[in-house]
Amino acid sequence: MPAEIVRNKFIELFKEEPLLVRSPGRVNLIGEHTDYNMGFVLPAAIDKAIYFAISPRSDGVCKLFAVDMNDSYEFSVSELKKSGKQWPEYLIGVLDQLKKLGKNIEGFNCVFGGDIPLGAGLSSSAALEAGLAFSLNHLFNLGIDKLSLVKLAQKSENEFVGVNCGIMDQYINIFGAAKKVLKIDCRSLEYEYHPFTNDDLRIVLCNTMVTHSLASSEYNTRRAQCEAGVKILQQKYPSIKSLRDASMQALDESKADMDAVTYKRCKYVIEENERVTAACADLEKNDFVSFGCRMYQSHNGLSREYEVSCKELDFLVEQTENMDSVLGSRMMGGGFGGCTINLVKNDFVGEFKNRIQSSYKEKFGKDPLVYICKIEEGTHIIR
Ligand code: GLA
Repeated sequence: MPAEIVRNKFIELFKEEPLLVRSPGRVNLIGEHTDYNMGFVLPAAIDKAIYFAISPRSDGVCKLFAVDMNDSYEFSVSELKKSGKQWPEYLIGVLDQLKKLGKNIEGFNCVFGGDIPLGAGLSSSAALEAGLAFSLNHLFNLGIDKLSLVKLAQKSENEFVGVNCGIMDQYINIFGAAKKVLKIDCRSLEYEYHPFTNDDLRIVLCNTMVTHSLASSEYNTRRAQCEAGVKILQQKYPSIKSLRDASMQALDESKADMDAVTYKRCKYVIEENERVTAACADLEKNDFVSFGCRMYQSHNGLSREYEVSCKELDFLVEQTENMDSVLGSRMMGGGFGGCTINLVKNDFVGEFKNRIQSSYKEKFGKDPLVYICKIEEGTHIIR
């Protein structure tokens, strides 16, 4: 049990009983690359998590220990600077944001670790940021509300880690609920829960085991292309502030004014937003067949129009197309690697796993990991 391992390590290092917090990874059922276009997403928190064991100090020192890396880092709250290693940045960035909010922390001891696979697109980074923000808020009674925790965790990634991500990952980390997906309106930041309960189906992830080094530069390029599209749309429709406000009709009227790539990018985002709303209506009717079709449509758009897929992701999705017991499949997250998300009938899961693993191995010479997920609660205290 990762929680026990983290707690035991904490007691070994610091000789006291810590506060224990569970901070989950996430899946996104549909609504990809829509969050930074002020649109809709449909994520859920899952049963893979990072656990934090943490206690306050009063000498201004922060002592961090990463169990999975068997590595430590120590710094002073009065001197927040880049560590020169990767993992501490996600945590120091949170302190940096707290400081900017005028919340002064006296220092803390922290051991963390868990079972969210790194680089698989399950948002281990958001789990680190939002999990620490949540823990410190509780430990030092900072009185920060949930939505402000989300925003500060996102900002710490934008400003300290330097990745210009949207708000989805940190949002679902804090607001996730068991057996429910969350439809987030990334403009108003309101949300609604939709039931995701079907005992005959499983959410299954297939990890390409590919982490593309271009992922973050391409991510920023896509953002810029969407913004360029909005500027052109505004010439005819000044009220359009983001692609969220645009319709396909408005886009087609502006088609002659934009290059083919910008058009494709905008088309994908406008249609993906419509798909999220339609997919939520499917859930209310318990229509997972229709829901699954929209997942395939989403993948098509991501692969051909938004062009953030890769041959490994496309292969995994294609493999499912002739499997009657797979209702939907698509790439998930930023793209260029990571996982596909699949809706698979319960009694087919074993065979699904075998078939995917052997065909992927044959094609790419790599063993893809397959995870069967449960939807769980967002970040919370476990002890
Ligand atoms: C990454 C980002 C999110 C979102 C997705 C794509 O996970 O962190 O904000 O943009 O990519 O949907």
